[in-house]
Amino acid sequence: MGVTHKLGIIGFGGMGRNHFDHLTKNYSRLEVKGIFDISPKACDAAIARGTHVYSSLDDILSDPEIDLILVSATNDVHKALSVAAMRAGKNVISEKPVTMNSGELEEIMATAKETEKVFTIDQNRRTNRDFVLMRRNAESGIIGKPIVIESRVEGSRGMPKGWRTLKELGGGMMLDWGVHLIDQLLYMMCDEKVKEVYCKMLSLQYPEVDDNFHLMMTFESGLIAIVEVGTNHYIPHPRWYVMGEKGTIQIDNWNCDGKIIRNISKEDVWDEEIFYTKAGPTKTMAPRSAKSVETVTLSCPEDVEDSLTVVYDQFLDAVEGKAPLTITAEQAMRVMRVMEAAFVSANEKRAVAVDI
Ligand SMILES: NC(=O)c1ccc[n+]([C@@H]2O[C@H](COP(=O)([O-])OP(=O)(O)OC[C@H]3O[C@@H](n4cnc5c(N)ncnc54)[C@H](O)[C@@H]3O)[C@@H](O)[C@H]2O)c1
Repeated sequence: MGVTHKLGIIGFGGMGRNHFDHLTKNYSRLEVKGIFDISPKACDAAIARGTHVYSSLDDILSDPEIDLILVSATNDVHKALSVAAMRAGKNVISEKPVTMNSGELEEIMATAKETEKVFTIDQNRRTNRDFVLMRRNAESGIIGKPIVIESRVEGSRGMPKGWRTLKELGGGMMLDWGVHLIDQLLYMMCDEKVKEVYCKMLSLQYPEVDDNFHLMMTFESGLIAIVEVGTNHYIPHPRWYVMGEKGTIQIDNWNCDGKIIRNISKEDVWDEEIFYTKAGPTKTMAPRSAKSVETVTLSCPEDVEDSLTVVYDQFLDAVEGKAPLTITAEQAMRVMRVMEAAFVSANEKRAVAVDI
């Protein structure tokens, strides 16, 4: 079958190039027709790749052969570019965070409805294997009911320089990584509502934006999700840590190294004697007897495809009317509302009751 779709890329920095390289090497359902970027350096990178460089936004949007636009420019212009592209008759995939705030997203949603164009978002971390592994095990019953899910991404190199350090351009770790980690949890919890948000943010390096944050979300069922993103962690915490009624899941990193330790004893037996640790005597914190628990070693779920192909297949299936959209603006809106509540919580130093 010949290629029927032609994609234009707006914003050809690191992520625009990542899309380009993946699509031109590994993907046959569309052809990249060219790019537009306001930076000469980005245009040079496009020329080096042998792709066409459009001279202006109008130039790329008025190409009648292009039916798809990828918006991979900085966060501050996602809304304006997405709206302009849909008004020019193009279906749009936007990079995350979809917009700077929920008001902008409402405008996109209204435009998608009015123009009858497909609009989706590159919330590509739903297929990350560490996430799928955590979700499958948490939902399998192996540790009983999950009570607290902890999700962390931590580096030690500080914030990357450039627009990510500027509030006006949509910088900060909440909009950069928080958006992914919250999306994974809301996706996993399906329709269950978030009822409370509490967040602490730090600006260690750049005063304008959060370079570290600690977020706690409480779901309707009482399940607590802790999400932390940090840029000053020389020893990172595990990527995932789930405390369930009858066991614990720990996944250390993106390679999915990890284990489950779960209770297999029938009775709740306490020794009569106090246990002596280096920190003094204790019963509560005494280690479990080896025979009361089972350890399960975890490994990467190789059956899961984790690449941009998945996101583009979902996008094109919706464009071709073969399947409903998988990553919707409504889902992105829930993520956006949680992030907005997190900013309110951090600014006002209080927990925020929500119904998201
Ligand atoms: N989904 C993911 O996993 C993922 C990963 C990294 C970045 N991103 C997202 O991708 C987007 C780009 O990030 P990046 O790391 O490539 O940044 P970058 O700074 O490398 O590139 C951004 C590019 O956008 C261009 N640009 C800015 N305003 C423009 C405009 N009005 N018209 C055309 N081009 C414009 C800049 O000149 C620059 O070349 C961001 O929204 C970011 O959050 C997503």
